Amino acid sequence: MFKVENIRKDFPILSRQVNGKPLVYFDNAATSQTPQQVIDVIVDYYSNYNANIHRGVHALSQEATDLYEQARYKIQAHFNAKHAHEIIYTSGTTHGINLVANGFSALLKKGDEIIVSALEHHSNIVPWQMLCERTGASLKVIPMNQNGELEIKLFETLLNQNTKLVFVNHISNALGTINPIEHIIKKAHEVGAAVLVDGAQSSPHIKPDVQALDVDFYVVSAHKMCGPTGVGVLYGKEEWLNKLPPYQGGGEMIAEVTFEKTTYAALPHKFEAGTPNICGGIAFGTAIDYMNAVGFDAIASYEHELLEYATEKLLEIEGLKIYGTSERKTSVISFNLEGIHPYDVGTILDKLGVAVRTGHHCAQPIMDYFKIPGTVRASFAFYNTKAEIDVLVEGVKKAKMMLS
Ligand code: ALA
Repeated sequence: MFKVENIRKDFPILSRQVNGKPLVYFDNAATSQTPQQVIDVIVDYYSNYNANIHRGVHALSQEATDLYEQARYKIQAHFNAKHAHEIIYTSGTTHGINLVANGFSALLKKGDEIIVSALEHHSNIVPWQMLCERTGASLKVIPMNQNGELEIKLFETLLNQNTKLVFVNHISNALGTINPIEHIIKKAHEVGAAVLVDGAQSSPHIKPDVQALDVDFYVVSAHKMCGPTGVGVLYGKEEWLNKLPPYQGGGEMIAEVTFEKTTYAALPHKFEAGTPNICGGIAFGTAIDYMNAVGFDAIASYEHELLEYATEKLLEIEGLKIYGTSERKTSVISFNLEGIHPYDVGTILDKLGVAVRTGHHCAQPIMDYFKIPGTVRASFAFYNTKAEIDVLVEGVKKAKMMLS
Protein backbone atom coordinates (compact mmCIF):
# COMPACT_ATOMS: atom_id res chain seq x y z
CA MET A 1 0.00 0.00 0.00
CA PHE A 2 1.49 3.35 -1.14
CA LYS A 3 1.99 5.67 1.84
CA VAL A 4 4.05 8.75 1.10
CA GLU A 5 4.82 9.38 4.81
CA ASN A 6 6.52 5.98 4.99
CA ILE A 7 8.35 6.44 1.70
CA ARG A 8 9.73 9.80 2.81
CA LYS A 9 11.41 8.12 5.79
CA ASP A 10 13.62 6.23 3.33
CA PHE A 11 15.15 9.48 2.03
CA PRO A 12 17.39 11.09 4.66
CA ILE A 13 17.94 14.22 2.57
CA LEU A 14 14.24 15.09 2.69
CA SER A 15 14.49 15.98 6.36
CA ARG A 16 17.24 18.56 5.95
CA GLN A 17 16.80 22.30 6.01
CA VAL A 18 17.85 24.75 3.30
CA ASN A 19 18.18 28.43 4.13
CA GLY A 20 16.56 27.71 7.49
CA LYS A 21 13.47 26.15 5.88
CA PRO A 22 12.50 22.51 5.35
CA LEU A 23 13.78 21.37 1.96
CA VAL A 24 11.13 21.08 -0.73
CA TYR A 25 12.88 19.18 -3.48
CA PHE A 26 11.26 19.74 -6.86
CA ASP A 27 14.28 19.22 -9.14
CA ASN A 28 13.69 15.53 -9.69
CA ALA A 29 13.97 15.73 -13.47
CA ALA A 30 17.59 16.82 -12.98
CA THR A 31 18.32 14.15 -10.40
CA SER A 32 16.18 12.11 -8.08
CA GLN A 33 17.07 11.64 -4.43
CA THR A 34 18.61 8.49 -2.99
CA PRO A 35 16.90 6.17 -0.51
CA GLN A 36 18.78 4.75 2.50
CA GLN A 37 18.63 1.28 0.92
CA VAL A 38 20.80 2.51 -1.98
CA ILE A 39 23.09 4.56 0.27
CA ASP A 40 23.64 1.42 2.41
CA VAL A 41 24.69 -0.58 -0.64
CA ILE A 42 27.22 2.09 -1.62
CA VAL A 43 28.70 2.18 1.91
CA ASP A 44 28.71 -1.63 2.05
CA TYR A 45 30.54 -1.84 -1.28
CA TYR A 46 33.40 0.43 -0.21
CA SER A 47 33.45 -1.05 3.31
CA ASN A 48 33.49 -4.70 2.33
CA TYR A 49 34.20 -5.69 -1.26
CA ASN A 50 35.76 -2.87 -3.22
CA ALA A 51 37.84 -4.50 -5.96
CA ASN A 52 38.25 -4.40 -9.72
CA ILE A 53 36.00 -6.76 -11.60
CA HIS A 54 36.47 -9.45 -14.28
CA ARG A 55 40.20 -9.40 -13.53
CA GLY A 56 41.29 -11.00 -10.28
CA VAL A 57 41.12 -14.55 -9.06
CA HIS A 58 40.93 -13.23 -5.53
CA ALA A 59 37.75 -13.39 -3.48
CA LEU A 60 37.00 -9.67 -3.39
CA SER A 61 37.24 -9.34 -7.15
CA GLN A 62 34.92 -12.29 -7.62
CA GLU A 63 32.40 -10.98 -5.13
CA ALA A 64 32.39 -7.55 -6.78
CA THR A 65 32.10 -9.16 -10.24
CA ASP A 66 29.16 -11.30 -9.15
CA LEU A 67 27.28 -8.35 -7.67
CA TYR A 68 27.95 -6.16 -10.71
CA GLU A 69 26.74 -8.88 -13.09
CA GLN A 70 23.72 -9.67 -10.90
CA ALA A 71 22.77 -6.00 -11.18
CA ARG A 72 22.95 -6.32 -14.97
CA TYR A 73 20.40 -9.16 -14.75
CA LYS A 74 18.14 -7.02 -12.56
CA ILE A 75 18.32 -4.21 -15.11
CA GLN A 76 17.68 -6.65 -17.96
CA ALA A 77 14.60 -7.98 -16.16
CA HIS A 78 13.33 -4.50 -15.37
CA PHE A 79 13.44 -3.31 -18.98
CA ASN A 80 12.53 -6.79 -20.28
CA ALA A 81 15.54 -7.08 -22.59
CA LYS A 82 15.81 -10.47 -24.24
CA HIS A 83 19.47 -10.96 -23.25
CA ALA A 84 21.63 -9.61 -20.41
CA HIS A 85 24.36 -8.86 -22.96
CA GLU A 86 22.03 -6.31 -24.59
CA ILE A 87 22.46 -4.19 -21.45
CA ILE A 88 25.61 -2.07 -21.77
CA TYR A 89 26.73 -0.16 -18.69
CA THR A 90 27.47 3.49 -19.42
CA SER A 91 28.17 6.61 -17.38
CA GLY A 92 24.64 7.82 -18.17
CA THR A 93 22.24 8.68 -20.97
CA THR A 94 24.62 11.07 -22.75
CA HIS A 95 27.30 8.38 -22.90
CA GLY A 96 24.79 5.87 -24.32
CA ILE A 97 23.69 8.26 -27.06
CA ASN A 98 27.27 9.13 -28.00
CA LEU A 99 28.18 5.44 -28.12
CA VAL A 100 25.44 4.81 -30.68
CA ALA A 101 26.19 8.00 -32.65
CA ASN A 102 29.84 7.06 -32.85
CA GLY A 103 28.97 3.55 -34.00
CA PHE A 104 26.76 4.83 -36.80
CA SER A 105 29.67 6.86 -38.22
CA ALA A 106 30.78 3.59 -39.75
CA LEU A 107 27.34 2.79 -41.20
CA LEU A 108 26.07 6.08 -42.68
CA LYS A 109 26.96 7.86 -45.90
CA LYS A 110 26.15 11.10 -47.71
CA GLY A 111 22.48 11.25 -48.64
CA ASP A 112 21.33 9.31 -45.58
CA GLU A 113 18.86 11.06 -43.31
CA ILE A 114 18.44 11.23 -39.57
CA ILE A 115 15.33 12.46 -37.79
CA VAL A 116 15.26 14.05 -34.34
CA SER A 117 12.39 15.77 -32.59
CA ALA A 118 11.92 19.41 -31.68
CA LEU A 119 11.51 18.30 -28.06
CA GLU A 120 15.00 16.94 -27.57
CA HIS A 121 17.54 17.61 -24.86
CA HIS A 122 20.86 18.88 -26.26
CA SER A 123 22.34 15.43 -25.60
CA ASN A 124 19.96 14.01 -28.21
CA ILE A 125 20.72 16.74 -30.76
CA VAL A 126 24.43 17.54 -30.67
CA PRO A 127 25.81 13.96 -31.07
CA TRP A 128 23.65 13.55 -34.20
CA GLN A 129 24.81 16.88 -35.62
CA MET A 130 28.37 15.69 -35.05
CA LEU A 131 27.48 12.40 -36.75
CA CYS A 132 26.10 14.31 -39.75
CA GLU A 133 29.30 16.35 -39.99
CA ARG A 134 31.36 13.15 -40.01
CA THR A 135 29.26 11.25 -42.53
CA GLY A 136 27.53 13.81 -44.75
CA ALA A 137 24.10 12.60 -43.60
CA SER A 138 21.45 15.27 -43.02
CA LEU A 139 19.30 16.03 -39.99
CA LYS A 140 15.54 16.60 -40.11
CA VAL A 141 13.36 17.75 -37.25
CA ILE A 142 9.86 16.62 -36.21
CA PRO A 143 8.10 19.92 -35.39
CA MET A 144 6.15 20.60 -32.20
CA ASN A 145 2.97 22.53 -31.47
CA GLN A 146 1.90 25.08 -28.83
CA ASN A 147 0.91 22.31 -26.40
CA GLY A 148 4.45 20.97 -26.52
CA GLU A 149 3.44 17.90 -28.52
CA LEU A 150 5.12 16.48 -31.59
CA GLU A 151 3.34 16.89 -34.93
CA ILE A 152 3.15 13.21 -35.69
CA LYS A 153 1.50 13.58 -39.10
CA LEU A 154 4.41 15.77 -40.17
CA PHE A 155 6.83 13.17 -38.83
CA GLU A 156 5.33 10.66 -41.23
CA THR A 157 6.02 12.99 -44.16
CA LEU A 158 9.71 13.17 -43.21
CA LEU A 159 10.18 9.41 -43.51
CA ASN A 160 11.53 7.95 -46.74
CA GLN A 161 13.91 5.31 -48.03
CA ASN A 162 16.91 7.45 -47.03
CA THR A 163 15.87 7.64 -43.36
CA LYS A 164 18.33 5.56 -41.43
CA LEU A 165 17.78 6.66 -37.84
CA VAL A 166 15.12 8.29 -35.71
CA PHE A 167 15.85 9.77 -32.28
CA VAL A 168 13.22 10.87 -29.88
CA ASN A 169 12.82 11.14 -26.15
CA HIS A 170 10.12 9.12 -24.44
CA ILE A 171 9.31 12.09 -22.22
CA SER A 172 10.47 15.69 -22.66
CA ASN A 173 12.67 16.86 -19.79
CA ALA A 174 11.65 20.50 -20.28
CA LEU A 175 7.87 20.09 -20.65
CA GLY A 176 6.99 16.59 -19.42
CA THR A 177 5.20 15.59 -22.66
CA ILE A 178 4.93 11.84 -23.17
CA ASN A 179 5.71 11.16 -26.82
CA PRO A 180 3.87 8.47 -28.81
CA ILE A 181 6.98 6.37 -29.22
CA GLU A 182 5.07 3.18 -30.06
CA HIS A 183 3.74 4.86 -33.21
CA ILE A 184 7.08 6.52 -34.02
CA ILE A 185 8.92 3.19 -33.76
CA LYS A 186 6.37 1.41 -35.94
CA LYS A 187 6.47 4.07 -38.67
CA ALA A 188 10.28 4.30 -38.62
CA HIS A 189 10.58 0.54 -38.95
CA GLU A 190 8.30 0.59 -41.99
CA VAL A 191 11.06 2.43 -43.89
CA GLY A 192 13.82 0.34 -42.31
CA ALA A 193 15.13 3.04 -39.95
CA ALA A 194 16.49 2.24 -36.49
CA VAL A 195 15.07 4.08 -33.48
CA LEU A 196 16.86 5.30 -30.38
CA VAL A 197 14.65 6.42 -27.51
CA ASP A 198 16.06 8.64 -24.78
CA GLY A 199 14.45 7.22 -21.66
CA ALA A 200 16.16 9.47 -19.12
CA GLN A 201 12.89 11.15 -18.14
CA SER A 202 10.52 8.21 -18.60
CA SER A 203 12.36 5.58 -16.59
CA PRO A 204 11.63 7.31 -13.23
CA HIS A 205 7.89 7.25 -13.93
CA ILE A 206 7.03 4.23 -16.05
CA LYS A 207 8.44 0.79 -16.69
CA PRO A 208 9.25 0.46 -20.37
CA ASP A 209 9.23 -2.97 -22.00
CA VAL A 210 11.86 -2.76 -24.72
CA GLN A 211 10.71 -5.95 -26.44
CA ALA A 212 7.05 -4.91 -26.56
CA LEU A 213 8.12 -1.49 -27.85
CA ASP A 214 10.38 -3.19 -30.40
CA VAL A 215 12.78 -0.28 -29.87
CA ASP A 216 16.32 -0.63 -31.22
CA PHE A 217 18.11 1.40 -28.54
CA TYR A 218 16.85 2.74 -25.22
CA VAL A 219 19.08 4.83 -22.94
CA VAL A 220 18.68 5.71 -19.27
CA SER A 221 20.56 7.16 -16.29
CA ALA A 222 20.54 5.70 -12.78
CA HIS A 223 20.48 9.09 -11.07
CA LYS A 224 16.96 9.79 -12.33
CA MET A 225 15.80 6.49 -10.79
CA CYS A 226 16.92 6.83 -7.16
CA GLY A 227 20.40 5.55 -8.05
CA PRO A 228 23.80 7.26 -8.00
CA THR A 229 25.19 9.67 -10.60
CA GLY A 230 27.77 8.49 -13.13
CA VAL A 231 26.07 5.29 -14.22
CA GLY A 232 23.36 4.31 -16.66
CA VAL A 233 22.66 1.76 -19.34
CA LEU A 234 22.24 1.52 -23.06
CA TYR A 235 19.85 -1.20 -24.12
CA GLY A 236 20.48 -2.24 -27.71
CA LYS A 237 19.06 -5.07 -29.76
CA GLU A 238 21.72 -7.74 -30.12
CA GLU A 239 21.75 -7.48 -33.93
CA TRP A 240 22.42 -3.73 -33.78
CA LEU A 241 25.06 -3.97 -31.07
CA ASN A 242 26.85 -6.60 -33.14
CA LYS A 243 26.81 -4.29 -36.17
CA LEU A 244 28.22 -1.24 -34.37
CA PRO A 245 31.98 -0.94 -33.89
CA PRO A 246 33.35 -0.43 -30.36
CA TYR A 247 33.16 3.09 -28.92
CA GLN A 248 36.30 3.19 -26.79
CA GLY A 249 39.36 0.98 -26.94
CA GLY A 250 41.07 -0.32 -23.84
CA GLY A 251 41.15 -3.13 -21.33
CA GLU A 252 38.12 -5.36 -20.88
CA MET A 253 36.73 -4.82 -24.41
CA ILE A 254 39.23 -7.08 -26.18
CA ALA A 255 39.47 -10.79 -26.98
CA GLU A 256 43.13 -10.71 -28.04
CA VAL A 257 45.69 -7.94 -28.58
CA THR A 258 48.87 -8.06 -30.62
CA PHE A 259 50.63 -5.13 -32.28
CA GLU A 260 49.39 -6.41 -35.61
CA LYS A 261 45.73 -6.89 -34.78
CA THR A 262 43.20 -6.77 -31.97
CA THR A 263 39.99 -8.74 -31.79
CA TYR A 264 37.12 -7.58 -29.65
CA ALA A 265 35.29 -9.18 -26.79
CA ALA A 266 31.73 -10.39 -27.17
CA LEU A 267 28.78 -8.31 -25.99
CA PRO A 268 28.41 -6.58 -23.61
CA HIS A 269 32.15 -6.18 -22.92
CA LYS A 270 32.93 -4.93 -26.43
CA PHE A 271 31.41 -1.59 -25.34
CA GLU A 272 32.73 -1.55 -21.78
CA ALA A 273 36.36 -0.47 -22.02
CA GLY A 274 38.20 0.41 -18.82
CA THR A 275 37.24 0.05 -15.18
CA PRO A 276 33.55 0.82 -14.94
CA ASN A 277 31.55 2.44 -12.15
CA ILE A 278 31.29 -0.87 -10.30
CA CYS A 279 29.67 0.43 -7.15
CA GLY A 280 27.33 2.56 -9.27
CA GLY A 281 26.18 -0.44 -11.29
CA ILE A 282 25.47 -2.48 -8.16
CA ALA A 283 23.65 0.46 -6.56
CA PHE A 284 21.63 0.97 -9.77
CA GLY A 285 20.36 -2.60 -9.36
CA THR A 286 19.30 -1.81 -5.79
CA ALA A 287 17.60 1.40 -6.91
CA ILE A 288 15.59 -0.58 -9.45
CA ASP A 289 14.61 -3.07 -6.73
CA TYR A 290 13.56 -0.15 -4.55
CA MET A 291 11.40 1.48 -7.22
CA ASN A 292 9.77 -1.83 -8.12
CA ALA A 293 8.98 -2.44 -4.45
CA VAL A 294 7.19 0.92 -4.36
CA GLY A 295 5.53 -0.09 -7.64
CA PHE A 296 5.42 1.80 -10.92
CA ASP A 297 1.62 1.81 -11.11
CA ALA A 298 1.42 3.40 -7.67
CA ILE A 299 4.18 5.86 -8.61
CA ALA A 300 2.44 6.91 -11.84
CA SER A 301 -0.97 7.41 -10.28
CA TYR A 302 0.32 9.31 -7.22
CA GLU A 303 2.52 11.56 -9.37
CA HIS A 304 -0.43 12.26 -11.64
CA GLU A 305 -2.39 13.43 -8.60
CA LEU A 306 0.50 15.76 -7.68
CA LEU A 307 0.63 17.07 -11.24
CA GLU A 308 -3.09 17.85 -11.35
CA TYR A 309 -3.06 19.48 -7.92
CA ALA A 310 -0.04 21.65 -8.71
CA THR A 311 -1.35 22.62 -12.16
CA GLU A 312 -4.64 23.77 -10.70
CA LYS A 313 -3.05 25.72 -7.82
CA LEU A 314 -0.40 27.38 -9.97
CA LEU A 315 -2.90 28.43 -12.63
CA GLU A 316 -4.83 30.35 -9.96
CA ILE A 317 -1.91 32.81 -9.94
CA GLU A 318 -2.63 35.60 -12.39
CA GLY A 319 0.05 36.07 -15.02
CA LEU A 320 1.42 32.55 -14.62
CA LYS A 321 1.77 30.58 -17.83
CA ILE A 322 2.50 26.88 -18.07
CA TYR A 323 4.53 25.61 -21.04
CA GLY A 324 3.71 22.03 -21.98
CA THR A 325 -0.02 21.48 -21.78
CA SER A 326 -0.38 18.09 -23.41
CA GLU A 327 -2.98 15.70 -22.02
CA ARG A 328 -0.21 13.12 -21.97
CA LYS A 329 2.42 14.38 -19.59
CA THR A 330 4.33 13.38 -16.47
CA SER A 331 4.89 15.35 -13.29
CA VAL A 332 6.85 18.25 -14.76
CA ILE A 333 5.55 21.82 -14.72
CA SER A 334 7.48 24.44 -16.65
CA PHE A 335 6.15 27.93 -16.08
CA ASN A 336 6.87 31.65 -16.09
CA LEU A 337 5.41 34.68 -14.39
CA GLU A 338 4.60 37.41 -16.88
CA GLY A 339 7.40 39.96 -17.17
CA ILE A 340 9.66 38.21 -14.61
CA HIS A 341 12.85 36.33 -15.42
CA PRO A 342 12.72 32.64 -14.37
CA TYR A 343 16.10 32.94 -12.66
CA ASP A 344 14.73 35.57 -10.27
CA VAL A 345 11.76 33.38 -9.35
CA GLY A 346 14.09 30.40 -8.77
CA THR A 347 16.34 32.49 -6.52
CA ILE A 348 13.45 33.55 -4.29
CA LEU A 349 12.13 29.98 -4.15
CA ASP A 350 15.58 28.79 -3.08
CA LYS A 351 15.53 31.27 -0.17
CA LEU A 352 12.30 29.56 0.89
CA GLY A 353 13.90 26.10 0.73
CA VAL A 354 12.27 25.16 -2.59
CA ALA A 355 14.62 23.59 -5.16
CA VAL A 356 13.52 24.05 -8.78
CA ARG A 357 15.49 24.26 -12.00
CA THR A 358 15.51 27.48 -13.99
CA GLY A 359 16.82 28.23 -17.48
CA HIS A 360 16.59 26.46 -20.81
CA HIS A 361 16.90 22.94 -19.33
CA CYS A 362 19.43 21.93 -22.03
CA ALA A 363 16.60 22.27 -24.56
CA GLN A 364 17.22 25.65 -26.21
CA PRO A 365 15.19 24.87 -29.36
CA ILE A 366 12.06 24.49 -27.18
CA MET A 367 12.68 27.86 -25.55
CA ASP A 368 13.26 29.41 -28.98
CA TYR A 369 9.95 27.96 -30.15
CA PHE A 370 8.11 29.65 -27.27
CA LYS A 371 10.31 32.80 -27.67
CA ILE A 372 11.35 32.76 -24.01
CA PRO A 373 14.78 32.69 -22.36
CA GLY A 374 13.80 29.80 -20.12
CA THR A 375 11.29 28.63 -17.56
CA VAL A 376 10.99 27.73 -13.92
CA ARG A 377 10.63 23.96 -13.81
CA ALA A 378 9.14 22.08 -10.88
CA SER A 379 9.42 18.33 -11.31
CA PHE A 380 7.80 16.00 -8.79
CA ALA A 381 8.69 12.52 -7.61
CA PHE A 382 6.68 9.93 -5.71
CA TYR A 383 8.15 11.13 -2.37
CA ASN A 384 6.78 14.66 -2.79
CA THR A 385 3.54 15.84 -1.19
CA LYS A 386 0.67 18.23 -1.78
CA ALA A 387 1.79 20.16 1.32
CA GLU A 388 5.12 20.78 -0.45
CA ILE A 389 3.23 21.98 -3.53
CA ASP A 390 1.44 24.48 -1.28
CA VAL A 391 4.87 25.79 -0.20
CA LEU A 392 5.84 26.18 -3.86
CA VAL A 393 2.62 28.01 -4.71
CA GLU A 394 3.00 30.40 -1.78
CA GLY A 395 6.63 30.96 -2.82
CA VAL A 396 5.64 31.80 -6.38
CA LYS A 397 3.04 34.26 -5.09
CA LYS A 398 5.69 35.86 -2.90
CA ALA A 399 8.13 36.05 -5.82
CA LYS A 400 5.44 37.72 -7.93
CA MET A 401 4.77 40.28 -5.21
CA MET A 402 8.47 41.05 -4.72
CA LEU A 403 9.42 41.19 -8.40
CA SER A 404 6.44 42.87 -10.08
N1 ALA B 1 18.67 16.64 -18.16
C1 ALA B 1 18.52 16.98 -16.79
C2 ALA B 1 17.43 18.01 -16.59
O1 ALA B 1 16.52 18.08 -17.35
C3 ALA B 1 19.77 17.37 -16.15
O2 ALA B 1 17.48 18.74 -15.63
